[in-house]
Amino acid sequence: MNIESIISFTRQSRLGHWCLLLAFLLTGLTAGCSHQPWDIDTYIQNLERPERDEYQQPEKVIEALNIMPGMVVADVGAGSGYFTRRFAKAVGETGHVLAVDIEQKMLDYNKQELEKLGIANRASFILAKPDDPSLSQNSVDLVFLCNAYHHVEHHADYWAKIKSALKPNGRVIIVDFYHDERSGKLSFSKHHLVPRERVIENMEKVGLTLSKEHTFLPRQYFLEFKGS
Ligand SMILES: C[S@@+](CC[C@H](N)C(=O)[O-])C[C@H]1O[C@@H](n2cnc3c(N)ncnc32)[C@H](O)[C@@H]1O
Repeated sequence: MNIESIISFTRQSRLGHWCLLLAFLLTGLTAGCSHQPWDIDTYIQNLERPERDEYQQPEKVIEALNIMPGMVVADVGAGSGYFTRRFAKAVGETGHVLAVDIEQKMLDYNKQELEKLGIANRASFILAKPDDPSLSQNSVDLVFLCNAYHHVEHHADYWAKIKSALKPNGRVIIVDFYHDERSGKLSFSKHHLVPRERVIENMEKVGLTLSKEHTFLPRQYFLEFKGS
């Protein structure tokens, strides 16, 4: 069946109308679940909404990470910069933050917000490929992913690259939503989420072992890994 005959079929038959409607609905559903929201401004608004602080507890997360001035932190899947800004404050003038994302618009927004704070010079904005975090070897004290692990889990080699980017004693931090009822209501399907136990298994496969777990976040696991 060529495209002309499909169009003609959908125009002429009642069944065709239903097919068209079904295709339209499925496309909409896929957009909602695809994890690549088509409206990036709405995505940014969602990441930045003030109510998020209640469950995300960003100041407590930063405190738990024990970041020292002068450290290099990679915020992978940095998004709008919700955490990038806090890292930029924590690493001070002598430290640096690498904000990594695959969406240029996210990086632009992130940079603009840091400029407003007058600390954009403490960060670099890296447009990465989905399967490569684009970090140099032996360059980072702390790699941080918040609500981003489930976007990258399926990329083979990703974690080997992350591991090779760590300096000696470097750490990898994964904060992500629980795949079950603990994460509460989410704007996307929970089947995208990765159970905490699978994250630990996956990391062990590349030689990253669980070194600490913080349990104060109600909806997300918060895991620290180090190279073994
Ligand atoms: C749910 S947002 C989280 C943003 C931020 N970490 C936060 O907590 O506010 C996920 C981000 O990961 C980015 N992302 C998705 N796949 C990625 C990949 N393979 N590498 C880097 N970033 C990715 C998306 O563009 C998006 O900005």
